[in-house]
Amino acid sequence: MIDELLDRIAAFHRSRSMVPEFPMVAEVLDVLDAVRSPDEIPPAPPLTVTRHLAAVGPSGEAALDAVIEEFLRIAHDLPWRQTAGYLDTLSDEYLANYGYVQLVGPAPSIIEHPSVRVGIGVWGPHLEYPLHEHEAEELYHVLAGTPAFGTEDGTWTDSIPGDAVHYPPWHRHAQRFGAEPTVLLYCWTGAVKADAVLVER
Ligand SMILES: [Fe+2]
Repeated sequence: MIDELLDRIAAFHRSRSMVPEFPMVAEVLDVLDAVRSPDEIPPAPPLTVTRHLAAVGPSGEAALDAVIEEFLRIAHDLPWRQTAGYLDTLSDEYLANYGYVQLVGPAPSIIEHPSVRVGIGVWGPHLEYPLHEHEAEELYHVLAGTPAFGTEDGTWTDSIPGDAVHYPPWHRHAQRFGAEPTVLLYCWTGAVKADAVLVER
């Protein structure tokens, strides 16, 4: 059911000129090429964030739009989730406007894998994802929206669809989401089992 989406994500990564700069992409591609979707995906309760998908459109970049198109086609049949550790700490507004689908990764994921996570997250307009950290190495790609990416020292960097942001293990980062819904493709390698945790300030 998600094989076509995984194929398009792999093709998107292969279309990026920065691939040689990020050895983790080779590991992600090996996994994307090897895994296969289960025939049936156990349902999960719907999340209200999916209402933002109606406002997500193409970027004009073919490999990126191929991912967006397939994701939007099947998104409402996918198991959406939120990081368990955030449910008691982030605001009701945040939790009503955020969620992700973990395509590959440790359970619960559509395809279980011990050392790579691949997923797509969605955030509503004008949310701020507070400073957080995780041991896994991470590569984000902006698929839609104009999020700003922040670091611990207070520096913010704007982005547009197609941009990539790479974080080494334990790099503390935050996001401010723009006026349109944001869709981010994320990949993790290394110590992927533990979820991200918010950084107390
Ligand atoms: Fe992260």
